[in-house]
Amino acid sequence: MVDIAEDGRTWLLSGPGSGYALHLTGADELLHLHWGPPIALADAEELAKRPPPGPWPFESPLDGREEYPVEGGPRFVRPALSVRTGRRRGTEWRFVSYDVDGEDGTLRLRFDDDGVGVTLHYRMRGDVVERWVTVANGGPEPVELLRADAATWTLPDREGWRLSQLHGRWAAESRLITAPLTYGEKVIGSRRGHTGHQHLPWAALDTDATEERGEVYGCALGWSGSWRISVAQLPDARVQITGGAGHDDSGLLLLAPGESYTTPVFAGLWSDGGFGGASRAWHAYQRAHVIPDAERDRPVLFNSWEATYFDITEEQQAALARRAAEIGVELFVVDDGWFGARTSDRAGLGDWTPSPDRFPRGLKPLADHVHALGMRFGIWVEPEMVNPDSELYRARPDWVQHHPGRTRTELRNQLVLNLAREDVREYLWEHLDTLLSSAPIDYVKWDFNRCFTDAGWPGEPYPQRLWVDHVRALYALLDRLRAAHPRVAFESCSGGGGRIDLGMLGRTDQVWTSDNTDPLDRLAIQHGFTQLHPARVMAAWVTDSPNTQLNGRASSLRFRFVSAMAGVLGVGGDLTRWSPRERTEARRWVELYKEIRPLVQHGELYRLRPPTGGLSAVQYLRGEQTVVLAWLQAQHYGEPVPTVRLRGLDPSASYECRETGEVHRGAVLLHHGLRTGLKGDLDATVLRLRRI
Ligand code: DGJ
Repeated sequence: MVDIAEDGRTWLLSGPGSGYALHLTGADELLHLHWGPPIALADAEELAKRPPPGPWPFESPLDGREEYPVEGGPRFVRPALSVRTGRRRGTEWRFVSYDVDGEDGTLRLRFDDDGVGVTLHYRMRGDVVERWVTVANGGPEPVELLRADAATWTLPDREGWRLSQLHGRWAAESRLITAPLTYGEKVIGSRRGHTGHQHLPWAALDTDATEERGEVYGCALGWSGSWRISVAQLPDARVQITGGAGHDDSGLLLLAPGESYTTPVFAGLWSDGGFGGASRAWHAYQRAHVIPDAERDRPVLFNSWEATYFDITEEQQAALARRAAEIGVELFVVDDGWFGARTSDRAGLGDWTPSPDRFPRGLKPLADHVHALGMRFGIWVEPEMVNPDSELYRARPDWVQHHPGRTRTELRNQLVLNLAREDVREYLWEHLDTLLSSAPIDYVKWDFNRCFTDAGWPGEPYPQRLWVDHVRALYALLDRLRAAHPRVAFESCSGGGGRIDLGMLGRTDQVWTSDNTDPLDRLAIQHGFTQLHPARVMAAWVTDSPNTQLNGRASSLRFRFVSAMAGVLGVGGDLTRWSPRERTEARRWVELYKEIRPLVQHGELYRLRPPTGGLSAVQYLRGEQTVVLAWLQAQHYGEPVPTVRLRGLDPSASYECRETGEVHRGAVLLHHGLRTGLKGDLDATVLRLRRI
């Protein structure tokens, strides 16, 4: 809902539990007024009357107070918008008009600077404020966008801000770290062409929040290419967060007359429910407004990667499929290695037809076999890449990103296709469309296994547009494939969690969280991941023990299953080597997962105890039912294992635990906790409770 002051210069957006207000001064300066608990329009109008600080000759009265700081004038903060034409640089806008979209309630504020139109968009989705900007060249000459961020978020005056971020690297993604903010700027982002394993495009700020209490301000960017979020504590201690596509200010796009650029969405959320409350609000937002068909359950999948790596044949995959069906798997996915000359990572990328040696009859017979076993069938692709040793590269060496006369850097023996080129886009569309029509394929794992390094485009007058246009082309390709093949679900993967963001989640059904399938490491990765994204998209596999992918750690099937059951359960071990006893046990875990799946995938998540070494636990709640997943890393000195205090229950109700048969009062579970029965090292349990 948007309330507007009579003079049409103060706006208040309200969600069910929050408010956001802004004001336009007589000099057309757009000032931030409020972001936090719900307020009335009269409150916003009082804030609008507060005189600006200063005046001081060495500080700006605008810095730290503007909704979208442009370049130029009395501003010393990093500009969100930096524009250059043949005649000038910077922006001096005048307000043109505003309106509220009747359909989705988007507030649009329009400004103009001599033909360069800037429109700021605001839309409430629950308590999440979505913000984005459109820059349109309505003038006669080209306009260069050096930088066009999606939004600047302004925090209220408080002391002692702390910044939380999700950092990492390959096989160690989305680990939560919190540290005090100090003066100056903290910049996170990616200059790699994809979202990156190094940072999820998310930042959260608080002063004294705990998991379940206190104010948390968070923002998350929906962009799957290079990006930047800058958190700045200004000289007067005010904090602003600015973010958008592109890492640097060195040029994003050149807009010809009549062209425009729309930034990705930079979403913001205020919550006073602590980090847990903020996460649940983010999850609800993504399930309702971002993730396609989020109300549908994600199936239990089998993925062949760790079982067979590149060494695959039709018969061997069929044998794995039979084992997978026996334990209750619902979707069988053949990973890398089924196409072209792909017997290692040195060849084949780009040639999206089944290998004549390994799948001489194509994919259809295997897909039919998998379907006959009662499962869906999926495949792996990495369409944005090419190996130099491939038919595609031999035919079209000019289709890769490269600078003429410079080395084409190979990473994992592969080069990046220039998706900004229309002929490349059409090639991919045709081949993928044909592939998806060639066999009953229900699922595509879409991988991306190297960063941009030589982002050149010979012959193109403004080659750096490739960074933005690659992502736009990727989105368009995914959207087109989804529309043409509505039965196919997509998984976003980038060497694990290298491309996870709200942009990708808007067009994929789940993500591959990390290549790290060690069930213990995974707990911390999942703890970080769920700060922002819901379990409904967080794929997790049970693989072999000792762990083959990473660290050789041995763990029980129980521990591996309970770890993976916290998200979208998958199995990735070599089932042909699992003993009958292990397979029987696996079948029981898969059955149990299917029973708790509605809670895990669609319920509310409470992180009861973080994975810091001893006991950790999460709880999912939906209606009358709740389930607790708990893990004990190591028990020392025989010390008693703590109870886990549950959340979100009715204190006056009673709950029966299916595992123990015991009945507990809600108040007891909330205030004194549940005993998990865990002991020793790497122990885990699932405890189901139902209100009676
Ligand atoms: C990286 C992915 O994260 C793995 O799961 C697997 O699909 C390999 N690529 C295949 O090359």
